[in-house]
Amino acid sequence: MNAKDIMGISPIVPVIAIDDEKDALPLAKALQAGGVNIMEITLRTEAGLKAIKLISEQMPSINVGAGTVCNEEELLQAKEAGSKFVFSPGISQELIDASLKHNITLIPGVATASEVMLAQNNNIFYCKLFPATLSGGVDILKAFSGPFAKMNFCPTGGVNLNNLNDFLILKNVLCVGGTWFVPKDAIENNEFDKITQLCKEAISSIGID
Ligand code: 3PG
Repeated sequence: MNAKDIMGISPIVPVIAIDDEKDALPLAKALQAGGVNIMEITLRTEAGLKAIKLISEQMPSINVGAGTVCNEEELLQAKEAGSKFVFSPGISQELIDASLKHNITLIPGVATASEVMLAQNNNIFYCKLFPATLSGGVDILKAFSGPFAKMNFCPTGGVNLNNLNDFLILKNVLCVGGTWFVPKDAIENNEFDKITQLCKEAISSIGID
């Protein structure tokens, strides 16, 4: 699966930290019911890899990938668990080389012009902007559109219901990532209907001022 296709699956990409893998399948179902067919499960928790494995084996209809992949070892673990792609908060030559070596699509995070240059010099034209609002938000994306006209972004970090349209209206933004529609307490308390509602609320708000 290439990065363009991945970033075209859903306008909102859930960034998920899961503490108990038993929540993985109900969460995947709740997201699908809300119209979201992609999951970025971060490797920040012990259960992350187990959750990816469960979903990739038992719910192949949802596109599951790993997030917070910072080095080759994590990239390989993510792939072996069944990730269809990996997201990273940052970018490094090591990680780019590892993604080529292990044949898995990497969507790296960038926040500066130099990092965008590293991406495009490696033929990568689909990146996260991370942390989106802190690194300059809409203004930096507009600034990047001049020198880096071919680069496409998934702003992540600080995106929410109030500002997602500010990002999604930009030509160089294909989707946004975030946690606001997959709150940790809702996962822990098994409030999966609430997550479905939050997805629907976000998707229905797209394009409306
Ligand atoms: C993260 O890495 O936690 C993501 O960028 C999500 O950030 P958010 O909680 O601001 O959506």
